[in-house]
Amino acid sequence: MKLLMVCLGNICRSPMAEGVMRSKIQARGLNILVDSAGTSNYHTGEHPDARATACARKHNVDISTLKARQFMVRDFDQFDRILVMDASNYHDVLALARHEADKKKVELIMNTMYPDSNLSVPDPYFGGEEGFEKVFMMLDNVCDLLASSYRTQP
Ligand code: 4NP
Repeated sequence: MKLLMVCLGNICRSPMAEGVMRSKIQARGLNILVDSAGTSNYHTGEHPDARATACARKHNVDISTLKARQFMVRDFDQFDRILVMDASNYHDVLALARHEADKKKVELIMNTMYPDSNLSVPDPYFGGEEGFEKVFMMLDNVCDLLASSYRTQP
């Protein structure tokens, strides 16, 4: 199973999601690969935002070495599930889908916890540190549920 976490910049929400998910995967000994990407190229090559790194570190998750990259059409081939943070990410990724099979891979990450709720993981970039804490908690909860939905399968 290969999961791709997607947000706009790939410096706040999706790297936090990648780090949290990776720690849940390791804790459960699951055979799941996780990566992250941004729909934009605004921050390509950059490490995560310092506030995201500090927040994750506070919760014993190290995302300091991750580097931002832009979502590519070939990610549809590389990943089984593409978990996006908000409605605008959803729209941007779907716009690159080549066919129905691509579209089917894309879902709002919070819908895996609250089906059909269409809840977004809010963008914390322009806010304060409390926004990062809130995002971390949402991602921690949803990744816990996601990880528990997988058994040790290929
Ligand atoms: P992210 O946050 O999508 O969670 O990584 C953002 C990062 C950068 C920008 C917006 C959101 N930006 O406009 O540069």
